[in-house]
Parts: sequence; C-alpha cells; structure tokens
Amino acid sequence: MERLVSKAEVRQAVRAARHNGQTVALVPTMGALHEGHLTLVQEACKRADYVVASVFVNPMQFGPTEDYGSYPRDIERDLSMLSAEGVDLVFTPTPEGMYAPDASVAVDPGIMGALWEGAIRPIHFRGVCTVVAKLFSIVAPDLAFFGEKDYQQLQIIRRMVRDLDLPVKVQGVPIMRAADGLALSSRNVYLSAEERAAATALYRCLIAAAEGAREGQHDTVALGALMRTIVAAEPLVTIEYAEVVDPDSLVPIETLTASARGIVAARIGTTRLIDNMAVAPR
Ligand code: PAJ
Repeated sequence: MERLVSKAEVRQAVRAARHNGQTVALVPTMGALHEGHLTLVQEACKRADYVVASVFVNPMQFGPTEDYGSYPRDIERDLSMLSAEGVDLVFTPTPEGMYAPDASVAVDPGIMGALWEGAIRPIHFRGVCTVVAKLFSIVAPDLAFFGEKDYQQLQIIRRMVRDLDLPVKVQGVPIMRAADGLALSSRNVYLSAEERAAATALYRCLIAAAEGAREGQHDTVALGALMRTIVAAEPLVTIEYAEVVDPDSLVPIETLTASARGIVAARIGTTRLIDNMAVAPR
C-alpha cells in the first residue's frame, strides 16, 4: 500500500492504474477508522480494481466552536487497518496542501444543506461538498463510497454529483452498528460508559418508528413524537431533532405512503450523535 501526501503524486498514481486498465474507487474518510469505515473499504475492494482511501480531517467542515482541534487522530493505526483491507493508495494531504491560503471558491450545498444537520452546523455541508468535489477532481474515481450513517451527507453528495455532472458513481453503504444497536462513529470514543449506554436511545427510537410504521401508524407527526418520547426518557441525552422525512429530499412528510427515513440527532454531554433508519409503511 502506498501513502501519498501530494495531489500531483496522487494524480500520477491513479493515472498509472488507469493506464493498466484498472477501475478506480475512492473512500473519503477523516480517519479514526472503525469497522463502519472498513465496510466501505471492503465494498470498494469488491467493486473496483484500484482502491484509494483518503484520510483528511477537513477544517472547512467544522464550525468555530466544534471539535476540529480535538477530533481523534491516529494515522499509524488507520494506515495499518487500510493496508490489511487491501487498499492500494492512501491519500493523506495536509490542510495547507489541500487549500490555498486565500481559497475563496466553494461548493454551495443548496437547499438540502440548510436542513437538519445544516440548520445546527451552518457551514458544515459547504465544507463537505467542497472537499469531496476536490477529492473527486484529484482522484477522478469511477466509484465513490459513502456510508448511510451520514444520510444527509450521502443525499447531498448524490445531488452535487447530479447537479454538477461530476463523472463519478456514488455508492451508499448500510450503517454498521455495535451489538446493542449504537451506530459506530469516530465520536463514540468521547462517551463515558454511562453515556455510551444512554446513547442507544437513538437506535431504540428509530426501531420504534420503523416498527410503528410497519404496524400501521402512518402519521409521521405521531411517529416523530414517539421517537422524541423515547429519547426524552434518557436524562443524559438532549434531543436536537427526530423526524420522519422524504428519503431523497429530506423534507418532512405528513403521511407515510412509501418508504421514508427516520432521522435523529442528539447531544450527550458535549458529544453530538446522529443516526437514521428506513421507515416503511405496512
Ligand atoms: P467520516 O466521519 O470519517 O466518515 C467517512 C465515511 O464513513 C462516511 O461516508 C461515513 O458515512 C462512513 N461511516 C461512518 N460511520 C459509519 C458506520 N457506522 N457505518 C457505515 N458507514 C459509516 O463523513 C466524513 O468522514 C467526512 O464528512 C468526509 C465525507 C470524509 C468529507 O470530509
């Protein structure tokens, strides 16, 4: 496995792979890798000949009061995990290498970028779209893999690719969960044992919504209320939103007529967690 820091070297390595007739996949990450990230890598290895992973904690997608400085970083561990999966190339740019000091042009995430996560983290999706568009430009992959864990991010990236005619196929990968249902996240390391137990409320409220829908509750206002009641029962957890929304546009829907998405965000101490699940009518 090769590790490269410069954009020019990455372009060259990918060009060589293409020259050999290989198809190229990209898995963008911010490192602090866990089994959830590895399912994306495994899927990429199955679907393409030459697999590139990027590890870059992107300053542009963190707000001024967020955890950019303290975001978990362990590049040596990340590299050995990626190597064990059979990744061909890891791109580990520096912030200075990635962004010109006076960089000013960015990708506008549009209307979806202002909903839910975007309402709480106003510059977040602008930073995500910009860095992902840059990675697509540098690596020029045929396929790019994103987790359903960050469902809104996945849908915004699909829109970006569609609306900007980017020549890449976006592949969503299902959420990897711990045995108790908690979605794996790099931020789970921030949780104390007590908080970790309380955090399963996010999963439990989504299961309740999915089961409620399957049993015939098609009023999404009632399903949202049910989700919030379950999270509210955990004193350590403060809910930010819990809703049932359109699975493509993420706007709230009134009545469940087709498969929708339950989405939830909550704070546990100083840690923010998000989760989501398909919610389908009977
Ligand atoms: P990061 O949080 O490191 O996540 C990298 C990818 O792993 C994302 O596509 C995310 O959805 C996926 N992922 C994380 N946890 C997962 C889980 N439990 N199951 C399945 N997939 C999971 O998302 C980002 O980084 C950044 O915003 C990035 C796209 C790299 C742009 O900076």
